[in-house]
Amino acid sequence: MKADHPQSPPPWRPVVQFESVGVRYGTGPEVLRDLTFSIAPRSFQFLTGPSGAGKSTLIRLILLAVRPSRGLISLFGEDVAGLSGEALTRLRRRMGIVFQDFRLLGHLTTFENVALPLRVQGREEASYRGEVAELLRWVGLGDRMHALPAVLSGGEKQRAAIARAVIARPELLLADEPTGNVDPSLARRLLRLFVELNRLGTSVLLATHDLALMDQVDARRLVLGDGRLHIDE
Ligand SMILES: Nc1ncnc2c1ncn2[C@@H]1O[C@H](COP(=O)(O)OP(=O)(O)O)[C@@H](O)[C@H]1O
Ligand SMILES: [Mg+2]
Repeated sequence: MKADHPQSPPPWRPVVQFESVGVRYGTGPEVLRDLTFSIAPRSFQFLTGPSGAGKSTLIRLILLAVRPSRGLISLFGEDVAGLSGEALTRLRRRMGIVFQDFRLLGHLTTFENVALPLRVQGREEASYRGEVAELLRWVGLGDRMHALPAVLSGGEKQRAAIARAVIARPELLLADEPTGNVDPSLARRLLRLFVELNRLGTSVLLATHDLALMDQVDARRLVLGDGRLHIDE
């Protein structure tokens, strides 16, 4: 955010807002301190920093999988501190997540893996079959719909995982080193997929320590180091 008009609130409600957030694991030292930042609707940003800097921890904080030891976290304009389990589940459903190791279910086909978030919502297959097939074609897996994950290549697995993360139209897509297990040319293709999803309206936070990959896109960088965050606009 620019500091020109410090009194006036932004014209949009941030998707994510952290204020002086700190986090520790158990009784250990704080691994992240004084994190203050926000993520705007429809924005694209990288989250970077060396291994162990806290990228995954920051993503877990946003996913509500780790609790801050201090500070305020708001998601979609709601302070998460006082919310019930049901309300937290509702917020989580507005986010999609992609991990480095894909995390597809081995006994389900590509189609079934991608459809899973819709099934969990209680929707009937007839109501989503076309939607899932269209998204699979869009990510280039139109001819792999009935394949099991075991026979997919790394790039195909990650495209399936990205499709699963976005099938329920999340407002925020979190990706934790999504290109860590694929070769550089596939990594660039996956990155273009994230950029395209962002153009369609999803906010994207993509964690990576791959500088060459970040150089492909002119985007804001949230940089973690020594437990703190600085932002390269
Ligand atoms: N479950 C955990 N329990 C204790 N310490 C952890 C746990 N997960 C991560 N850490 C520590 O928190 C710090 C940040 O880790 P992490 O968020 O995984 O960094 P990154 O994703 O940038 O590699 C590291 O010092 C790591 O050892
Ligand atoms: Mg990590």
